[in-house]
Amino acid sequence: MKIIQLLMIIGLNLISTELVYADYNAGKAKAEVCAACHGSDGNSQITIYPKLAGQYKNYLMNTLHAYKSGSRKNAIMSGFAAGLSDQDIEDLSEYFSKQDGLKVLPMK
Ligand code: HEC
Repeated sequence: MKIIQLLMIIGLNLISTELVYADYNAGKAKAEVCAACHGSDGNSQITIYPKLAGQYKNYLMNTLHAYKSGSRKNAIMSGFAAGLSDQDIEDLSEYFSKQDGLKVLPMK
């Protein structure tokens, strides 16, 4: 009986970690803050602001976590990243990686 309870707890934990989804539409809404510099779809028109559109999602996530932790330093981006939750980073990275830009994507 104990074993069954243990397996159920492990099972529930596995299910709950699976429930962290990237939300494209939430990312789009959250990206409004970034638009002033990076452009509304991440295709910045100003060279000092990097293009985010079509960047690999993993790259965007790692970079935002790095700004947040301080392992990548930039006065502007550290300030923006400091206020982002893990979910925000997931959603924003999902949105920007799906825009046409740095790479040609086979599917939208
Ligand atoms: C006030 C202007 C400004 C705003 C607003 C802004 N950024 Fe940035 N962002 C920058 C600058 C400048 C850099 C380049 C910093 C550096 O050299 O590390 C940058 C770099 C980045 C990078 C790294 C790009 C790369 O190619 O390495 C990411 C990812 C990023 N920003 C995401 C965001 C997100 C997401 C938001 C909104 C939550 C945002 N930024 C808002 C100015 C801005």
